[in-house]
Amino acid sequence: MTNLARCYNIADLRAQARRRLPRGIFEYVDRGTEDEVTLRHNREAIERIKLRPRVLVDVNTRSTETMLFGKPASMPLAVAPTGSAGLTWYEGELALARAAKAAGIPFTLATGSQTPLEKIARDAGGRLWFQIYMWANRNLSYELIRRVEGAGYEALIVTVDTPVGPNREYNQRNGFGLPFVPSVRSYTDMLMHPRWLVGTMFRYFATTGMPRLENHPEEYRRSITADPKGGRRAMRSDSLNWADIKRVRELWPRTLMIKGLMHPDDARLAVEHGADAVVLSNHGGRNLDYVESTFEVLPEIVAAVGDRTTVIVDSGIRRGSDIVKAVAMGAKAVLAGRAALYGTAAGGQAGAARALELLRYEMDTAMAMIGCPTIADLGPAALAPPPAER
Ligand code: FNR
Repeated sequence: MTNLARCYNIADLRAQARRRLPRGIFEYVDRGTEDEVTLRHNREAIERIKLRPRVLVDVNTRSTETMLFGKPASMPLAVAPTGSAGLTWYEGELALARAAKAAGIPFTLATGSQTPLEKIARDAGGRLWFQIYMWANRNLSYELIRRVEGAGYEALIVTVDTPVGPNREYNQRNGFGLPFVPSVRSYTDMLMHPRWLVGTMFRYFATTGMPRLENHPEEYRRSITADPKGGRRAMRSDSLNWADIKRVRELWPRTLMIKGLMHPDDARLAVEHGADAVVLSNHGGRNLDYVESTFEVLPEIVAAVGDRTTVIVDSGIRRGSDIVKAVAMGAKAVLAGRAALYGTAAGGQAGAARALELLRYEMDTAMAMIGCPTIADLGPAALAPPPAER
């Protein structure tokens, strides 16, 4: 059992996740694409931004609470969609959704997750967002959107940064990919991680069987090992364009976000096509290498559309102070992908709760230290000016 109380930051949870998970799954969660330059650069760009404290401010009454789409959230954070929480822990999406609800923040379920969206709504509840990849057969996507609406999800996130499959070389080396192709290497990897094998895989075998992509239409709802109809390729669309966003906007009556934008002009187009929010994201450095870091682009996006829409940013969030910086730069909130997954992999719901609690604690500490007791106090003055402007 992982001693979560002795995990003092997200890096500690990551270390526990690394010990528990088969290497193939850990690397799938942890790593980036090609040379992993963007993966590193996401962190470097955040680390370069410095806080500028004001002292002797009465911060006795503090709050990290904010309003997100008209409803309160305990902090400006939501759980990012990640298609593999269910592989890191038995029913990991449910564990993560429950932890998010308990922490008072929204949870995003990914299209490619292993738990049916209706089950998350029924058994976890809370503020639920759903992430969709539009498929080649648009009608199947529209059906899914209706399913999401029927289950009561409050927001739909359309991810637009994956027209083709990313080049993740490490997955080819470590033998892990989706569909999962069994090999001597992958079996050895699993056998060497008995806590995961017994606690996660065997539990699936004893209950629902091999994990499946439960939110896919029935003909593609195969197990993660099978790809009978070339399903994965059929489930992607390289023809997605703004007309599709227009159509989705007509279909989806609630909050609509476009995720995976990196250009101010695309942010403007998203607003013009009726999006309620843009999620500035490079997919955590997992899709295209040598793309800019999101925190580098954030000022331009805020300048372009910040007065007209909600700007959310992700890719590299590992500390509460990262969230403080994002909000001070004009973002309304951030999404955390790996930070939440490391927690889930380390200890299921309790581990996910630990990750969220650490981020909130670190946020509260940073806000107190810089003399900003509330979210409304966070602005450019909380940050050191870039060296060129000094
Ligand atoms: C992701 N991400 C992702 N995004 C999405 O829109 N649909 C998806 O199915 C997935 N799947 C996924 C799996 C895993 C293992 C990871 C780590 C990430 C991207 C995710 O939503 C988010 O943009 C990044 O994770 C943000 O970067 P950080 O917080 O992980 O650094």
